[in-house]
Order: sequence, then structure tokens, then C-alpha cells
Amino acid sequence: MKINPTKTINQIVPLISYVADLQSNRGIYHGWRTAIFAARLAEICNPVEIKSIFYAALLLDIGGIGLAYHITHYLIRNDRVSQDALLSHPIIGAQIVSNIPGLSNCAKIILDHHEWCNGRGYPRAKNSNDITPGAQVTRISDTLDIALRRRRCLGLAGLKSKLSKTVNREYSEKLLQQAFEILRGGNFFKKMIDRGSIPTLFKEAHAAVGSIRIPARIDAIGGALRVIAEITDMKHPYTYGHSLRVSRYAMSIALAMKLEHDQVTKIKWAGLIHDIGKISVSRKILDKPNKLTGSEYRKVQEHVKISGIMKLAPSLQEIAPIAAGHHEYFDGSGYPMGTAGMDIPLGARIITICDAYDAMTSNRPYRGGICPKEVCQKIQKLAGSQFDPEIVKFALPVFRSLEL
Ligand SMILES: [Fe+2]
Ligand SMILES: [Fe+2]
Ligand SMILES: [Fe+2]
Repeated sequence: MKINPTKTINQIVPLISYVADLQSNRGIYHGWRTAIFAARLAEICNPVEIKSIFYAALLLDIGGIGLAYHITHYLIRNDRVSQDALLSHPIIGAQIVSNIPGLSNCAKIILDHHEWCNGRGYPRAKNSNDITPGAQVTRISDTLDIALRRRRCLGLAGLKSKLSKTVNREYSEKLLQQAFEILRGGNFFKKMIDRGSIPTLFKEAHAAVGSIRIPARIDAIGGALRVIAEITDMKHPYTYGHSLRVSRYAMSIALAMKLEHDQVTKIKWAGLIHDIGKISVSRKILDKPNKLTGSEYRKVQEHVKISGIMKLAPSLQEIAPIAAGHHEYFDGSGYPMGTAGMDIPLGARIITICDAYDAMTSNRPYRGGICPKEVCQKIQKLAGSQFDPEIVKFALPVFRSLEL
């Protein structure tokens, strides 16, 4: 299996940004539009850092995944918990991104993306000389996108008067002027406020900025996919560590089945990203202690389709269908396609069993974890209906060895 790490990571980062925005109250394309604008601005005022600025802008609020409500910009008075979570999202985001090979410079920008030039920003209240160059570019780009979202019909003049209110507080006057020079050019502003134009604008900006170079190191792709697992599992406490465990169990079963090395790697990677779609499901639904309503259940089911979005990264085309098939049942009664038997990819049939094992042994809002011995008995009973009976033969000894 020849997968180029540089290409893969450059394809994955925009998808992570896209999926992260599916869960927020900001609507889609927040990361993409912030990155488009940040790249244009960086071209003028900080061309040396343009790549780091562009990729950091895509992942600015990645540390906010898992907040009950995706509050990432404005403090809510009298709500200490929300404030603490909000104030720490740049720190958490920087830590997450520093684990993606090649993105360590982006981590510094993310850490400082809420620092203000007047020294009253967060999390460190840095003064303007200490703020990472590039973070001011993402600061104004972020503010610009939010302003356009809150008042959709804001014209260029209205936008300028809105952004002028925080000049010399959040960002410098010079930066504001440069931002408006760009917005006035051609029909750029018109395109920026038209949601339909964003994918094309983004594609053009991504191509112009180019790829982040990934240092030669072992398992760069695995490193990036582990980050996806981490942000997926941050979504709520009940799933903490779930994606990593499913990936490990699936790899152990694939090894026990003596599958080819490439096949084992694909299954391990698919396990890491199988639930990325859960990011788009609200915490209210995921944490609900009672039975879900029909529409809530359908929303949960949609997570597999969103996990399938990863196939838009050409490098992950063989991995995404394995990830997206983890709720298909051997007898055809699963979702989303109702595929049966050998028509379900082998890797997906393995991950389905691991997913069920981990879900049953873990605590849930509506019940405590079931003991592993009992879970193995349940899995045995479901061999042939929910699970591929041949794989169950390999899976049970793996799970029993975990008990030991
Ligand atoms: Fe933020
Ligand atoms: Fe799932
Ligand atoms: Fe899962």
C-alpha cells in the first residue's frame, strides 16, 4: 500500500476542519472561510508564515470539541464551567495539533489565536510583542468570519464599522486596513459572503498555499489519524479512548487472522477514524440518559455517513468504506446501507465486533459497563446475525486475553 504522508495529511486537515464545524453553532465552513481570508492577508503581511497561518486557521477551534455548547468566542457571564472550557480551548487545540506531523508551527499560532494586541486576550494575556507572528492574522480572520455569520446582510461598510470597534484592542489598525484592501479587491467580498462559492475559493486558496511538508518519520499518517481518534473521543466522557481501543482490538484480531500487513494497517487506521462522524452529533443527544426519540436516533445513525466523508481524501479511499461500514450487520439488518455477509468489507466486519465489545464493556449515560465475560457470551450469541461467525472465532480469544 503506497500512501504518500504529505498528500494524505494535506487532504485530511481540511476534512477535519469541515467535520468539526458540523457540530458547532457557527455553521459549516467557519474554518475554511477563516483560512481563505487568513491566507490572502498573510500574502501581504506575513508571506513567510503563510502555510502555517492557513493550516492553523483551519484548526483554530479544534480544542473546543467536546464542549456542551460550542462556545469558542464569547464569554458567558455567570457560567464558570463554560468560561474555563472557553479559556483553555487554545491550549488544548495547540496540544492536539502539535501531534499532527508537520504542524508544530501551527500549534503556536493556535495557542495565541485569542491573544489581543492590547494584552487583554487569553489564555496568557500576552503583550503584542510576545504574540506569535501569524496569530494576529488568524485573530482578525476569525473575527471577520464570525461577524459575517452573525449579520448575514452586513455589507462591506457595515463590516468595517463592526470590525473597527475592536481595532487596537484585538488587532492593529494596520492589519484592519490591509484586511479591507483585500476585501475591496475585485469581487472577493461578494464571493466570501456567498456560501456556494466557499468550496471553490477554498480549493483555490489551498492550491495556492501548497502542502505542508511532512518530515520523514515512521507512521506520519497513523499519527494524524490518532489525532482524529483523540478529537472524536473528546466529544463526550463516555467515549473517552473508544476509537483507540477499537483500533487496537481490530488490529489484534486482524493479526490473529493472519491478514496481510497492508490489510492490518488499513483496519487499524479505519478503527481510529470510524466514529469521526460523532463529532457532528450534539452532546445533548450523546449524553441523553433516556431512550432516544426517532429523530435523535436517526441523527446518531447519520454519524457513519459523515465518517464516510473521509473518502474525499483520495489517500483514504480504501480506508473510509471500512470505517463507514461499522454498523452494518452480517444478516443485513444494520445501517446505513443494510449490506449483508461478504458484501460488507472484511475490515468493517472486524470493527463492528470491536465497536460492540467496547460499547458494551464501557459505561454509558443510561447504564454501567457490562462485565467482559458476559459481553463475550452476548457476542457469541449474535454470531451469524449481527456478527460474522468466522471472525467471532478469532475475536473471542482476543477479548478473553484482554480480561487476563
Ligand atoms: Fe477560538
Ligand atoms: Fe459508530
Ligand atoms: Fe464506535
